[in-house]
Amino acid sequence: MVRRMTDSDAAGAAAADSAAFLKAWRARDFEDELKKDYASYFVYEHDGVISGYAGIWCIYETAELIRIAVAPPARRAGIAGMLMEHILKCARERGCERMTLEVRKSNFAARSLYKKYGFTEISVRKGYYEGEDAVIMEKDLV
Ligand SMILES: CC(C)(COP(=O)(O)OP(=O)(O)OC[C@H]1O[C@@H](n2cnc3c(N)ncnc32)[C@H](O)[C@@H]1OP(=O)(O)O)[C@@H](O)C(=O)NCCC(=O)NCCS
Repeated sequence: MVRRMTDSDAAGAAAADSAAFLKAWRARDFEDELKKDYASYFVYEHDGVISGYAGIWCIYETAELIRIAVAPPARRAGIAGMLMEHILKCARERGCERMTLEVRKSNFAARSLYKKYGFTEISVRKGYYEGEDAVIMEKDLV
């Protein structure tokens, strides 16, 4: 099930993160995020194990998707999709009118996920990720 992330999930979220990103967040990074009143984080938990999470920042009318990750053994089972639905609902409830994100051009899985949930590619930041282009995507929430 998907539920709000709490401080006690930080270690589990960090474990999922370390399998997903080269520059992984540590538990303390998640604890710091949870202190921000404009941040909302969710985890996917099954039998006490956290296998995915997603977080947004809601600042005025714009929500930014900060991070989403699913541990490799749990992928392609719809977990990221469930997390997307929760963050989109949360952003709407917080009054946001759009959601934006940036993603590595080579990240085909994530770009496909975002397209499936209605995001369109609006611009490119050349060389943003250590020389690799970042694709900026956006979705209207109203
Ligand atoms: C991107 C990521 C979160 C997807 O998680 P997931 O739980 O496997 O995704 P889902 O099973 O919910 O898939 C939902 C949709 O995403 C797309 N998708 C996910 N993985 C894909 C893949 N390997 N290839 C192509 N499309 C993919 C598809 O459109 C899929 O819909 P479908 O099943 O109807 O085809 C996961 O691969 C991941 O953690 N990657 C590393 C971290 C990352 O890159 N995060 C995004 C940048 S911040």
